[in-house]
Amino acid sequence: MGRLTCSSSAILLVVAVVLLVKAEVALCDGCSYKRIFSFGDSIIDTGNFVFDIGNGQSPLKELPFGMTFFKRPSGRICDGRVLVDFYAEAFNLPLLPPSIPEEKTGQFATGANFAVFASIALPPSYYKSKYNFTMGVPSDLGAQLASFKSVLARIAPGSTKAVLNESLVLMGEIGGNDYNFWFNGDPKNSRDTPDQYVPDVVARIGSAVQEVIDLGARAVVVPGNFPIGCVPVYLNAHQSGNQSDYDEHGCLRWYNDFSQRHNAALKQEVGRLRSKNPGAKVIYADYYGAAMQFVRNPQQFGIADPLVACCGGDGKYHTGKSCYKNATLWGNPLGFASWDGIHMTEKAYSIIAAGVLDGSFADTPLRHFC
Ligand SMILES: *[C@@H]1O[C@H](CO)[C@@H](O)[C@H](O)[C@H]1NC(C)=O
Ligand SMILES: *[C@@H]1O[C@H](CO)[C@@H](O)[C@H](O)[C@H]1NC(C)=O
Ligand SMILES: *[C@@H]1O[C@H](CO)[C@@H](O)[C@H](O)[C@H]1NC(C)=O
Ligand SMILES: *[C@@H]1O[C@H](CO)[C@@H](O)[C@H](O)[C@H]1NC(C)=O
Repeated sequence: MGRLTCSSSAILLVVAVVLLVKAEVALCDGCSYKRIFSFGDSIIDTGNFVFDIGNGQSPLKELPFGMTFFKRPSGRICDGRVLVDFYAEAFNLPLLPPSIPEEKTGQFATGANFAVFASIALPPSYYKSKYNFTMGVPSDLGAQLASFKSVLARIAPGSTKAVLNESLVLMGEIGGNDYNFWFNGDPKNSRDTPDQYVPDVVARIGSAVQEVIDLGARAVVVPGNFPIGCVPVYLNAHQSGNQSDYDEHGCLRWYNDFSQRHNAALKQEVGRLRSKNPGAKVIYADYYGAAMQFVRNPQQFGIADPLVACCGGDGKYHTGKSCYKNATLWGNPLGFASWDGIHMTEKAYSIIAAGVLDGSFADTPLRHFC
């Protein structure tokens, strides 16, 4: 069945009888949002980090970043659009501006994206004091929320609740880096440690959701983590001679199981938030399951090998070299799931977004979640 969009409703509006028109308009209103506010890390950063570094050099400022859709580097850590772009398109909104460049002046009439490359959920001080581990990160969830609140106070003084009432909030993915930096940082880091702090990461995400609900948000999407055992940098860093460490797709079992433990805890937290906030809709988005679609059946999506990077070096997983302009571009990004060995391609994100918007990877398909 074809999906019914607001524009197709508009066409119906011209041809349909009055009663039918009324029904369509009601459906359209219910499913639309005036704004999207999003929080997260490099998975959905649309320019905050690149703005933050000013004149500093970064491969993110050069092609091949952005080559597929924008045809120029856009501040995204991708060849093209990222998940939040597909959500904005689905709700007929312009692509969200990154918040930081206009933090003091922007009106953000259709929302803003507060996500910053390399952000973590918990504050760096948590890891320093508990594990003597330095997370040299540019932002965390607390900093993004503080910025969000100051922007709201400026653009909607006295009407914060009304503004958030008609907004969709995307809380993440966030927390992936709380694990990435540990697992792929100091080789002495024990892989068993992050299980100890999963509950704190999940509680931090949960308290952020509660904060935006208390501010007036009615619809909040909480995405889970990806199957990190299928990510090229993990596959390269944690190679094993023991075949039973790999699943039938060639992914690292232990790391995928870890992601699933995080996701199970997060889902439980979402359930708790739902019962605590009957007036709000808190929806879990299963990014793990949505990504496993192209790991299991890559050919169905035109992807040759979902476990190798499109842009990188000539290691087994095309790692060994960062995605600089002097890296190897192994082919058209549309035929790859991994862009640079860590982040995904626009193609992969489009599959995940479709699975969340119209498929079975959100509690209710997001496009119909109203
Ligand atoms: C913390 O880590 C640093 C190096 O990263 C080390 O020099 C220092 O001894 C450690 N401190 C403790 C209390 O383990
Ligand atoms: C939020 O929107 C709903 C549905 O449009 C409405 O019933 C409710 O009164 C609104 N709440 C606030 C605080 O604006
Ligand atoms: C191989 O890995 C499996 C599980 O990952 C483990 O149970 C087994 O002991 C390992 N075998 C060797 C020889 O290390
Ligand atoms: C690739 O480019 C980066 C950044 O310009 C540079 O640091 C690196 O040394 C280059 N690598 C090679 C092999 O030329």
